Formats: sequence, C-alpha cells, structure tokens
Amino acid sequence: MNVAPVPRIAVIVVAAGSGTRLGAGSPKAFVGIDEHTVLRHALRSVFAGPAAQVIVVAPAGYEGDALTDVLAAAGDRRELARVVTGGATRQQSVAAGLDAVWPDVESVLVHDAARALTPPEVFTRVVEALSERVPAAIPVLPVVDTIKRVGEGEILGAVDRSELGAAQTPQGFRRDILVTAYRVADEEFTDDAALVAAAGHRIAAVEGSALAFKITTPADLDRARSLVTPDPVSTATLRPDTHDTLPRVGVGTDVHAFGGEGTLWLAGLEWPGEQALSGHSDGDAVSHAIVDALLSAAGLGDIGTHFGTDRPEYAGAHAEAFLARTVGLLSATGWRIGNVSVQVQALRPRFRDRRTEAEAVLSAALGGAPVSVAATTTDGLGFTGRGEGVAATAVALLVRA
Ligand code: CTP
Ligand code: MG
Repeated sequence: MNVAPVPRIAVIVVAAGSGTRLGAGSPKAFVGIDEHTVLRHALRSVFAGPAAQVIVVAPAGYEGDALTDVLAAAGDRRELARVVTGGATRQQSVAAGLDAVWPDVESVLVHDAARALTPPEVFTRVVEALSERVPAAIPVLPVVDTIKRVGEGEILGAVDRSELGAAQTPQGFRRDILVTAYRVADEEFTDDAALVAAAGHRIAAVEGSALAFKITTPADLDRARSLVTPDPVSTATLRPDTHDTLPRVGVGTDVHAFGGEGTLWLAGLEWPGEQALSGHSDGDAVSHAIVDALLSAAGLGDIGTHFGTDRPEYAGAHAEAFLARTVGLLSATGWRIGNVSVQVQALRPRFRDRRTEAEAVLSAALGGAPVSVAATTTDGLGFTGRGEGVAATAVALLVRA
C-alpha cells in the first residue's frame, strides 16, 4: 500500500471572526465573493501551496459550513483537512487551531481567511524561509503612502516609510516556538508575529503580495469581487508577484455611432451643440479605447469583463467613472500607468481647439499619467469620413507599481 507521508507543515486558517466591520449579516468567512465564499477562496491558495495539514477554525455553529468549503477545496488532500471551533478573540481562535496540530508537524503557518486572495507563492515563500531554519517568517508589503504621526487633529511629525512594512499572513513559525509563545502570552497581540517577538524571537520578512489584502470593509469586498471576475485570460496574470519587471503595452479600439440622446461626450469632455454618440454609457469611444488598452496591458480582460451592459451603474456614465475604476483595478494588481496615447478618427467634433483640454481631463482621471490625444479625419472615406460615427485607438504602457 502506498501511504502518503505525514506533512511536516500545518496551516491554521482562522475564520471564526464575526466580520463586524463588513456588516454583511453572516460571519465574514462565509460571505460570498462570487459563487464561492471568502473562506473557499482562501483555501484554494492553501491547497495550491505545499502539502500541509489544514485546520480551519470556524465560528461556533458554522463548523458544517466550514467543512463543506474545506472538503470542496481540498481535492485529493481531503485527509489533511479538519475543522475546529474558534474563540472570542483571534488569539483564542489560533490557540484552538494549535491544539489540533498533528504530533509530527514541525512548522505552523497561521493565515487569516479574510486574506482570501493571497497567492500560493506567498505560502511558498514563508515555507522556504522556515526551511532555512529561521524560527519565524512573515510576508510584508512595503508601505506606499507617506506616513505621519497625527495627534489632536495635527501633524506631529513624519515617519520614515522606508523602514515600514505592512504585515500580512500566512505567518510561519517553528511549531515549538509558537506553542511556547502562546502558552506564556498574557495579553492580546495584534498578530502572531508580535506574540512570538514578545517571547524573544527574531522574525524574518519575506515578500508579501498586494493581493493578500485583508477583506475588512465593504470596499475591500468590492475590490475582491472585481479581482475575481471570471476571466480566463486574467487569472494567470492577476499576480503582481511574478518577478517580471518589464513594462507592458496594451492596445484598445472603440467605435460609436452618432444618434444618442443629449449632447456629445467624447474624450472626457462635453461638446455642446454636437450630436451625441449612442451606447450603453455616454458612447465616449476615446475613454473606452483607453480602458481597453489599459486592461489589455495588465492582462485583466477587456471593458466588457468589468463594465458589462448588465451593470446599471455605468448606464450614462462618463469617462471619469470608467477610468477611475480602471486605475483601481490596475493598482490592486500592482500596476502604474506609464503613459497613454490615443488617436480619434472623426469628421466632427473638431479637436484642434480642445485637444489640450481633453488631455488634461483624461490625465486627471488617470491619476496624473500623461495622456496624448491626436485627431484625424479620414479624407471622406468610411463611416468616420461620412460623419456616421467616431473611432478611437489607444495604446497604453504600464509599469510595476
Ligand atoms: N478571527 C477568528 N476568531 C476571532 C476573531 C477573528 O478566527 N475571534 C479571524 C477572522 O475570521 C479573520 C482573521 O481572524 O479571518 C482576521 O480578523 P478580522 O479581519 O478582524 O476579522 P473579524 O474579526 O471577523 O472582523 P471584525 O474585526 O470587523 O469583526
Ligand atoms: Mg476582528
């Protein structure tokens, strides 16, 4: 008989919180991102990582739901999975998970179910660090915002962000160290690394991931939902972790016919007195071409993937709404816009007098990235030459954030 070796690693997935800040009506881990729960998404990466015992810590009363998710995610690793009941605090929930770790396990990873989109590579990095005999290793993401110390409505001083990092999970520890640190802990710590550091151990830092953000508020859930939009092209490229530092280009085109209601909106500008374009939104072919170029460069699908005509909030929306959300998708996946160049083919409107205005508006909507707008007529040829509609082609360059 072929008996699989007992894994030397355990992953404790803490999912016993109530999700007060999310306020979704059920415990956070059991809220759906798409057809799958937060927990199910988190477990997908857990089981894609190195073979490990997997302990899900569920809220009392939700053990059955957790078991359903873990068995569905486990595939042929079902024997490695189990569910235990959590406690009133995260620390108590981790402790409950620790009690269920098998005797042969040497390293324990503690992971927040709420970091549902953490890529498997982050697990691998933590496990690799532990295999190099460090007692503890956690993923860290550099802080991008300028940080200030603030008190009583006043800035007290600057903080050097180069030495700051945001701690993520999974946090990995040698089992004996974690167990002992938990036994002696006599206060609540904000994470397991703090608890282990308080017991006198050094913690190694490995590279975190922008996708390992914690779903805490409704806005975080929206962000997770936009990232898991089913799209076979994007799933492989949703990871900002590939060490690929090359910039990427994308191209987008769009065409709209004249004949819409109201006034014309094109290149983010309103054009009083000009005939409107038709379309589900304002028919702004220039901004739509830009969105397609940006999404294409990031491998995030196309405009239909994220702004389908079934989304009522984009009916009649103008360039700013499309471009702002696109910038959000890009930054969530680790991209910054280098520049955008767009060319419009149209008999009307005449861009000559408003070209720089259009560039300024589009650039502002893209967070300040340079946008060049060129316009041409087509010598009377084709639908643009006959004045039946406009066409736009955009090229975008993205660089790693
Ligand atoms: N957690 C847990 N047991 C608790 C509290 C939290 O297992 N008693 C888990 C959560 O399920 C989550 C992780 O710890 O995966 C991080 O906690 P947090 O994001 O604060 O989740 P909640 O406590 O559920 O949310 P809130 O604080 O908004 O109520
Ligand atoms: Mg909490």
